[in-house]
Amino acid sequence: MANKTLSVVLLSGKGGVGKTNISLNLAYALFQMGFKNMLMDCDLGLANLDVLLGITPEGNLQNALLGEAQISDVLHHVEPEGFDVLPAASGVPELTELQPDMRDLLLARLEPALDKYDYIFMDVGAGISGTVQTFAAMAAMRIVVITPEPTSLTDSYALIKVLNARYGLRDFMVIVNQATSASEAKSAFEKLHGACRHFLHLEPVLLGHIRNDKKVPEAVCRQQPLMTYAPGSPAAQDIHTLASRLQRLRLGMADWLAPRKILQPTPDKQ
Ligand SMILES: Nc1ncnc2c1ncn2[C@@H]1O[C@H](COP(=O)(O)OP(=O)(O)OP(=O)(O)O)[C@@H](O)[C@H]1O
Ligand SMILES: [Mg+2]
Repeated sequence: MANKTLSVVLLSGKGGVGKTNISLNLAYALFQMGFKNMLMDCDLGLANLDVLLGITPEGNLQNALLGEAQISDVLHHVEPEGFDVLPAASGVPELTELQPDMRDLLLARLEPALDKYDYIFMDVGAGISGTVQTFAAMAAMRIVVITPEPTSLTDSYALIKVLNARYGLRDFMVIVNQATSASEAKSAFEKLHGACRHFLHLEPVLLGHIRNDKKVPEAVCRQQPLMTYAPGSPAAQDIHTLASRLQRLRLGMADWLAPRKILQPTPDKQ
């Protein structure tokens, strides 16, 4: 069967830039547009999607990997958000680093459960650990989340450089989060784009930006997605715009997606 599912991984060099909030709100915005989505917590060390959604899952990804449960048993459908969550456990030391044998097991167990979705969002931890790299290389689309802070820019550049060197990856989308204006977002993106073009000979693409908005931390404190807590807020409007752009891109990628697996390991160049 032709694949129509777009797997998207959200990455960042620096922590706390907004990956988890963006993934869950994008999933919700796309649900409102009529799509079926899954949100996978790939932060195996410090999982917190469950906390942000205020849910207490019974099983998690690690249980499925250890053969204690089926993937279908640990998928958690959330309402009114309308998407499925694959939670991860925090503090299972033997699984914070995904070794190649576990990665292959994960792929084998997950793939059959994925084709009913339009989008799979993979929320990884910050930085460039081996686990982050493994997930980054599996997805069909990589979105690097940055903020206008200089440290976010240098750390994102380092992340892209490592993924390019290790896996030959060249396609990166960028979301600028917590921007005070569109022009600030554009100038942050241009700095990253300039460094990538000059030193790595690759050109990331700007997907868009999300404004700095006090409603975001308020929603986090209420353990509720921004899109349900403050649907008309500036950041929520920006997320709707991003969701529409993502859907246009997905349509444009249909021929490219069709013959692919939804998640697949990219061979290591080293
Ligand atoms: N657009 C925004 N406006 C204001 N605050 C924001 C915005 N986006 C995110 N934040 C704040 O940043 C905090 C961190 O967000 P989040 O947990 O999504 O980041 P993360 O990148 O997933 O972090 P980690 O790297 O630890 O996984 C949130 O608690 C929220 O308060
Ligand atoms: Mg996070």
